[in-house]
Amino acid sequence: MIVSLIVAYGKDYQIGLNNQMLWHISQDFKNFKKITSGHHILMGRKTFESIGKPLPNRTSLVLSQSTFEYVGVNVYTDLKKAINYAKEKGEKELFIIGGALIYDLAFDLVDRMYVSEVNYEGEADAYFRTYDQGLWNIKEEKFYEEIKEDEEIISPSWVFKVLEKKS
Ligand SMILES: NC(=O)c1ccc[n+]([C@@H]2O[C@H](COP(=O)([O-])OP(=O)(O)OC[C@H]3O[C@@H](n4cnc5c(N)ncnc54)[C@H](OP(=O)(O)O)[C@@H]3O)[C@@H](O)[C@H]2O)c1
Repeated sequence: MIVSLIVAYGKDYQIGLNNQMLWHISQDFKNFKKITSGHHILMGRKTFESIGKPLPNRTSLVLSQSTFEYVGVNVYTDLKKAINYAKEKGEKELFIIGGALIYDLAFDLVDRMYVSEVNYEGEADAYFRTYDQGLWNIKEEKFYEEIKEDEEIISPSWVFKVLEKKS
């Protein structure tokens, strides 16, 4: 089973503020849905609460050390147990979908990353870790233009990349 990570971060690796996303990029949401559909997705309790419900067509695994529970969600206190569960279910590609704490916890186990590098310079209280992109092979790269409405940028430009860890 491949362990993948999917993240969208700003210029300083910002990923969230007040348990919310920092931008609205509808094509990025569509990509996220397409890439993760049919798979197990693993997230921290705070990210689950920010989404608010299990995402359809995916099996939600949530990490928590509190008494959190939610119908339709498998809760784990231990990262490796959650990963093993997906493996035992025959998953071929598990997705770590955040947030900051869970990306950090799982980073060394990740084989592939789907990253959206967003042209965003604003504030945040949650960050992705800085990492050396030289240690990863770029398998795919696509630039997306900003979207404007009445001269106002409603969706920033961004670059989507698929990175695979060099062996
Ligand atoms: N831009 C993106 O791609 C993206 C993606 C996802 C999330 N986000 C953003 O990231 C932010 C949330 O990140 P976060 O770091 O605050 O929270 P998080 O990683 O989503 O969840 C943290 C929670 O996970 C549980 N946890 C942490 N370490 C654990 C461990 N070792 N074992 C078991 N459970 C553990 C704890 O839950 P308990 O407290 O219940 O014990 C902890 O409070 C939000 O702003 C969200 O919008 C951004």
